Amino acid sequence: MKIYVVGSLNMDLVINAPFMPKSGMTVTGSGFMANAGGKGANQAVAVSKLGGACYMVGCVGKEFGEELLATVRGYGVHTDHIARVQDVSSGIAMITVIDGDNRIILDRGANGRLTCDMIDKALSSARKGDYLIAQLETEISVVQYAFRRAKDIGMVTLLNPAPAAKLPHELFSLCDYFAPNQTEAEFYTGVYPSGNDSIAACADRLKRLGVRGVLITLGEEGSVFVGDGVFYKAEARRVKAVDTTGAGDTYIGAFVTRLSEGASVEQAMDFASAASAITVTRRGAQQSIPVREEVKN
Ligand code: RIB
Repeated sequence: MKIYVVGSLNMDLVINAPFMPKSGMTVTGSGFMANAGGKGANQAVAVSKLGGACYMVGCVGKEFGEELLATVRGYGVHTDHIARVQDVSSGIAMITVIDGDNRIILDRGANGRLTCDMIDKALSSARKGDYLIAQLETEISVVQYAFRRAKDIGMVTLLNPAPAAKLPHELFSLCDYFAPNQTEAEFYTGVYPSGNDSIAACADRLKRLGVRGVLITLGEEGSVFVGDGVFYKAEARRVKAVDTTGAGDTYIGAFVTRLSEGASVEQAMDFASAASAITVTRRGAQQSIPVREEVKN
């Protein structure tokens, strides 16, 4: 099965800091690094590094465009449907890492130029049973269009609703899998999922909005899936986190890759937990995602 990823490609400008400066203040950081990221591209690279057949749909811009394109291509992602836009920069993410956790400010740049026409062209080769993954660093109306097309074709859809944003009602009902982290889940439901009761309440609200399956990543608490009459939990691996950037993206890419191979949801969650646990032990985004042989689950 093919896996289509509709989403962003960003250049991540990363710096470690001892704490977040207040307004008007300067702190001395360290370890500056520019590396390829973007939620869409990270998820596409995760699919490809972990053995899936990945087709990415997105846009790069004037600054960093060729580099971002070459990087995802180098990891084996099919890039025929990534367009080059010349009058705007590629997406830029300014990332401050403090104690292994990140804070991100995003200028989506060229990612905002993705169009419904590009979705039509890319999905013209998609078939029933193929997968579509998207996030929210591109125009939401285009994501909604892509999901509508995907459901017409009979594809399996997963939305990673990040960064959290107000969504058109229809989009929820086009999601086979709705996969937020804890903060995003709280944004969409008003309930912070931590512990079985709040997880159940949160999932219940999302299902009432129309999603079919709820997959929530819970950081150190692992991840949960709530579907039709089923509740699965996967434990998080205990590792020392150096940089959490790209860990959620690795989870999503790994999860869908295993599903596309015919694995069960539980097996796919376990594999995704193992893969994302490796990502947090390394610095950066795409470069920190493991290849298949490294993932023992
Ligand atoms: O999910 C991590 C990604 O979010 C980073 O690579 C950054 O580009 C932001 O989009």
